Amino acid sequence: MIGTDPNLGREVVSAEVLRNRIAELGAAITSDYEGRAPLLVGVLKGAFMFMSDLSRAINLPVEFDFMAVSSYGSATRTSGVVRIIKDLDIDLTDRHVIVVEDIVDSGLTLNYLRRNLMARGPASLEVCALLLRDGLQKTDTDLKYIGFTIPPAFVVGYGLDVGERYRNLNAIVEYVGAE
Ligand code: IMP
Repeated sequence: MIGTDPNLGREVVSAEVLRNRIAELGAAITSDYEGRAPLLVGVLKGAFMFMSDLSRAINLPVEFDFMAVSSYGSATRTSGVVRIIKDLDIDLTDRHVIVVEDIVDSGLTLNYLRRNLMARGPASLEVCALLLRDGLQKTDTDLKYIGFTIPPAFVVGYGLDVGERYRNLNAIVEYVGAE
């Protein structure tokens, strides 16, 4: 697909670099949460692949839950309006929660999620974002774990989509097609 699709531009993070960084993130979480059983909260759909690989790099008894929120629809710009489409199944009271996000752009989605989840009484709440788009945050994001800071281009692959496409690419690639 990469190389022949005119909508795809340069590779921003290769599969190998992703793998190595995710191993590092997993090791950091393993050491920071030693003796605890963190609850990973994946933000669907974009974080599903990252969550899968990250969880296997964590050597602790983790639990999983997922939330689905809408922010972008099929366009490539944030609306600032966040809506919960699928809520969590697990009670967060006294849990050590790690929110697993694909990409933080304006930070509006995360800001909303953090406030929403903090109101449920977790023992702690941290965020692990695979990607942070450099410099565009409209709000203080306070991310404990960041995979990569990337330049301000729209990207797809490794879970990230445009109009539900390209999630299955094994690298992060710039999207240069029409919005
Ligand atoms: P924010 O609320 O502006 O921080 O946007 C975060 C959400 O927008 C992410 O969870 C993604 O679902 C989506 N998003 C932002 N940038 C991109 C991108 O470059 N590619 C695909 N999805 C993106």
